[in-house]
Amino acid sequence: MTDGGHGPVIETAEVFGAHRAGDLVSLTLIAPEIAEHARPGQFVAARVGDESSAEVLRRALFIAAATTGGAHAGTVTVVIAPRRAGSRWLAGRTAGDRLDLVGPLGTPFPLPSGPSPAVLVAHGYGGGPLSWLAQTLVAQGSPVEVVLGADTASELYGEQPAKRIAERVTVLTTDGSAGRTGPTTDAVSDAIVRLGAEVVYASGPAAVLRRVGELAQEHAIRAQVAVEAPMACGIGVCLSCLLPARVGDGGFRLVRACVEGPVLEAGRVRWGEFA
Ligand code: FES
Repeated sequence: MTDGGHGPVIETAEVFGAHRAGDLVSLTLIAPEIAEHARPGQFVAARVGDESSAEVLRRALFIAAATTGGAHAGTVTVVIAPRRAGSRWLAGRTAGDRLDLVGPLGTPFPLPSGPSPAVLVAHGYGGGPLSWLAQTLVAQGSPVEVVLGADTASELYGEQPAKRIAERVTVLTTDGSAGRTGPTTDAVSDAIVRLGAEVVYASGPAAVLRRVGELAQEHAIRAQVAVEAPMACGIGVCLSCLLPARVGDGGFRLVRACVEGPVLEAGRVRWGEFA
């Protein structure tokens, strides 16, 4: 597998558009330098607040799409679940507003060196980075199946783009308000077998990632997962994002999710302590 990546830059991005889908808000931001180097699985760290109210800590936002070229030279899209004060402020930005971003940050999803069947699993706004990854894999000739889940229909993201490119899309919600009723991971084993998958990629809460890792192990395939950890700086300085993971010598140590991750092999993470 290969990956990509490039050192981060600081960029003042203009909001090109804001779109609400259920309980989620996606922002498309004009940020040509970040867009040029971003890869699926990476994130940006956004400053929260204006000049008079800016918070010291930034918010980490997975990049859900990046375009290069076109009338605005380059854009990145992020998906926000406006649950707390900072994310609500970000979700309230509208066209023409400016956001201070650092990115692209973190390790991207490693891509196969050639066509390779892959199952992609996302819960909630984790559908953002997975949609972009699906497009990248399909463009490389890999068949993909997508499993999208959420607690409820209004928190689903990425169903329509996935349906345009995936061999099959399975939707599940915990409360049964869309698709099948049940946890996101209920459909993963069937998808792995049906597609003959060689790898699973996942994005979402730790419990979902942990279960995806277990299922991949049962099928003797790899699982690459994008972890969500509290990230105050995004550049490896503050140590707010530590998680226990196996390292090269087989032992465990605390690694920084923002630098060594957010994408990690699921089997490396000691999920009981992380969750
Ligand atoms: S977010 Fe600061 S070290 Fe990872």
